[in-house]
Parts: sequence; structure tokens; C-alpha cells
Amino acid sequence: MTRRQPNELRSARWYAAPTRMGSVHRQRAAQAGHPRQDYEGKPVIGIFSTWSDLNPCHGHFRERAQHVKEGVWQAGGFPVEVPVMSLGEPYIKPSALLYRNMLAMEVEEMLRAHPIDGVVLMGGCDKTTPALLMGAMSMDLPAIFVPSGPMLSGRWRGQPLGSGTDTSKLFMEYKAGQLSHADFVESELASSRSPGHCMTMGTAATMTSLAEVLGMTLPGAAAIPAPDSRHAQMASLSGRRIVDMVWEDLRPSAILTRKAFDNALAVLMALGGSTNAMIHLIAMARRAGIPLSLSDFEPFADRVPVLVNLKPSGDYLMEDFFEAGGVRGLLSMMRDVLDLSVPTVSGMTLGQAIDGAQVYHPDVIRPMDQPVKDKGGLVILRGNLAPDGCVIKRSAADPARLKHRGRALVFQNYDDMTARIDDPTLDVDADTVLVLRSAGPRGVPGMPEWGMLPIPQKLLQQGVRDMLRISDARMSGTHFGTVVLHVTPESAVGGPLALVEDGDFIELDVDAQRIHLDVSDEELTRRRAAWVMPEPPIQRGWGRLFHDHVSQASEGCDFPFLLPGAPTREPQL
Ligand code: FES
Repeated sequence: MTRRQPNELRSARWYAAPTRMGSVHRQRAAQAGHPRQDYEGKPVIGIFSTWSDLNPCHGHFRERAQHVKEGVWQAGGFPVEVPVMSLGEPYIKPSALLYRNMLAMEVEEMLRAHPIDGVVLMGGCDKTTPALLMGAMSMDLPAIFVPSGPMLSGRWRGQPLGSGTDTSKLFMEYKAGQLSHADFVESELASSRSPGHCMTMGTAATMTSLAEVLGMTLPGAAAIPAPDSRHAQMASLSGRRIVDMVWEDLRPSAILTRKAFDNALAVLMALGGSTNAMIHLIAMARRAGIPLSLSDFEPFADRVPVLVNLKPSGDYLMEDFFEAGGVRGLLSMMRDVLDLSVPTVSGMTLGQAIDGAQVYHPDVIRPMDQPVKDKGGLVILRGNLAPDGCVIKRSAADPARLKHRGRALVFQNYDDMTARIDDPTLDVDADTVLVLRSAGPRGVPGMPEWGMLPIPQKLLQQGVRDMLRISDARMSGTHFGTVVLHVTPESAVGGPLALVEDGDFIELDVDAQRIHLDVSDEELTRRRAAWVMPEPPIQRGWGRLFHDHVSQASEGCDFPFLLPGAPTREPQL
């Protein structure tokens, strides 16, 4: 392996230049307290931290950034900490997806504009992982991902509480009158016991696990609980490793290959992972110039069963997954369906990275012949209601409803739904199909996680806990139920979802991968002729820019002008 020389470092253009501007850069380094020995001839390592007081999942990142810095110094690099936009999933409304591309652009542009040779990406809360990786891929400088790690397991009255999943279940019981207000409030305090991302197999755990599978973290990094001392060690080791990656010129483009993405698709099924991962993987792959589409997920859904027994598809939480062997343990169960020759940031192949890995709790990580569910967790559906596809998380749905025919009850938008869903006079029963529209990428805009429509209160009081629900929205990876999501094209661009009327019959057949609106083509043509394209919901600013450029869910919700094409241009100094 040829190693780069100090004069070949990108940062040398700033710091070593015998020019007036070179002098300014050295002067400003001195202003920050750094003599020339600190940075001269050394890789400059950006530590891109998504810390924020409004993102409790990353509450430990200021401390972790120090661990990364120590690792960089010890390996002979020059660390510079750079705050980038934090996307704290619980607080950002209407949807953190609205800002995923903004963070990706910020990462790309902050890398482009500054004297940085390599970057440590610190993320974990849902959209931060794909956003950081997408930005780094587009700039294609050496990059390593430090996942935030899951928070500790929730515990309440002797029971485990899983982020999102158990909150939703307890809230349903509260609405049904089965749980007191005082008890529900007490459970709130027991759910989130430490910094770290959601500890169910939600979007965060799915995406950090896939980042490890893709080769962008050190081996074993993704499942380490955030407060565990091994998490701090992993951060320090990542800081050391990125310095070597710069000398080796090991870039994301060498790691994020078609084979790596195929591995990620297989593991997504085995995780019973989040539906959001489909959008993010398509977006990430396309940034790498790989034309991933929904059809590419289908063979893996047939071939790879759910092996990870975590909520919402199973019983356990991320601490259990970590102790059972984590991602390395899981991959050791899946050798036959993976390409283990792919490189990773560690300098090892994926096969070398899982050498010696074992599973220590076989009920948490199952072997291929004793799965949690015998088919993959996610299923692509098509039909006249979703010509470009939609998705259902089969592993978290009621098996009895995977084949269903029922009358539609249509909500025009989120406000209409929240205003009417608990109306005692609502014409609804357990077989009704709840339909929500105007919730897609352009519709809000931002495709919020509104897909798990609430069960109407009067049905909750009758004991109903699941119904077929269909929308162009997304759903939190922690959520569950017979929920059809990402209907494409979305209603805001005139997809067939825009044409459904109350009382229409809708048919779902998950085994046949079919979703059908039982209305004649002639009638749909008549309705389409009367349909009027809605005005953009936001007239200015980022919301308008997002609305005007975002692609559909089946294409990753990225902006076409961020896809590969024009070469990344280095700044003029
Ligand atoms: Fe941050 Fe779930 S809210 S990961």
C-alpha cells in the first residue's frame, strides 16, 4: 500500500502555502493556540459532531468528541471539532427528514470549504446517520462514522420499556381507559434512562447497524451502549484510525460499493429493520452512483428471515443485542448470504472484521434455521394504488391482517385526521381501512412519521389494537401494526392515493405483494380529471426548496442536483 506524503495532504494547500493567504491561515492557527508543530505535515481531521441540547440522543457527544480528539492527537493528526446541524428526532417538526438533505449538504460544503483531510462523523439519531454519510460520500474524503450508541434499556415495574414501541402501546392503553394518567406519566420517566439513540430496532439502530455492515465504522461499534466505557474507547480508536486512513487515502468510494449495499439489504431484512432505511439506502447508494431501487430489496425479503429478536418485531432491546454479540454476532450467522470480501474503514475486509465473532444469546440473535420470522421484515407492494411501490413492515404487523379487504375512510390531511379520529360518530369499524394523504415528501413537505395512524378511541375501547392503515407518510422504526407506507407516487403529485373516496374497497395481499383500489379505470380517470394539484404548502425558504426538488420515496427523497455528475470542485484559495 502506498502512503501519501505530507506535501500531498489537502490541508497543505492552506497551511503550507508560501503566500499571503498561507500566512493568514498559519496566523489564525496561532490565534487558536496552535504552534506550527501541531499541524505542520499532519492530517487535519474534522470531528463533525451533531451535539445539541435539543438532541438528547447525542447528549454525550461533547465528551465523546474529546475522546476522538485524544485518539487523533495520539496517532499524529491535528483534530478540529466542527459542530454541524443536529437533527433531534423527537423535537423537529414536522419531520427530521425535511432536513436530512440540508445536513448532508452542510457536511459536504463544510468539508469542501475547509482545510480538512479526513473526517470523523458523529451521529446516530435517525436522519443524522444517512445525512452525515451522504455528505461525506459526495465530498469523498476519508471518513469514519462514530455511532452514538443506544441508550440504556427502559425499565418500569419490572418490565422492559422500548423507545417508541412501548410508549405507543401504553398510550393506547391509556386512551382505552386501561391505564391511569398517573401511571402513564410515571412510565414516561422510566423510558429514556441515558444519552444514546432509541434502543428498539428503530430507524437509529437500523441505520447505525447498517453503517457498520457497510464498512463505515470500526468492527463492533454500532451496538455499544452510549454510556458504556467501551463506547468512549471506540471513539478514541476511531480518532486514531482516521489518521491512518488519510495516509492510506482510503475513501468512502472504495468502501461503499454495490456489494456493500447488497450486504446492507440482506442485514436490513435480518434486523427486522426500519422502513425508513429503504429511503436512506436508496439515497446513499445513488450518491455513490449505484442505481439502487425498490426492486433490489425484493430478493432479500424472500431469502433472508428476521434473525434479530428486538422490538418492535420481537422481544428484546439493544443492550441485549450488544451482549448477544451485536452486529458482528449477527453477521457471523449470515455468512452464506453476505459478500465478506468487501473492505471496511478498519483496513480489514468484512470477513476479517467478524473473525471470531460469536452469538452469546441465541434467543436474541437467531441462526438462519431458527428465525424470529421466517421471511424478511419488509415487503414491497405494488398495484393500482401504488404504481411505483409502497412498503409494509410485515414483521411488526398483525399476521391476521396481511390479507384484508375493507372500506376506505379517507383523511384529507393530518389536521383532518387529528380533528376527526376520536369523534364518537366516526363511521368506522375494525375492518375499515384508514387512509391518510397529503403526507408524502412534497405534501407537507417532509414526509413525516404519521403512518401509524391512531386507532379511533371508540375502537380502542372495544379492544381493537390494530387496523389496516395506508398513507404516503413514513412511520417511526419503533412503530408497529398493519401499516402500508411510502405510497408512490404520493397524493400531492396526483398519485392514485389522491383519488380514493370514502367507501371505496381496498385490498391488501402481502404474500402476493399486492395493494389494490377496487375502483374501475373509467371511474379513476373521471376522478383524475377533476383533481387539482395543490399549491406548495410552504411558499419560501428551505421548505419551498425541498418541495420543489425532493424526489419520491422510491427514489430516496434526495435532490437530483446532489447526485453524482459534476465533479466535486475544490475551492480556490
Ligand atoms: Fe433519537 Fe429515536 S429519538 S434515535
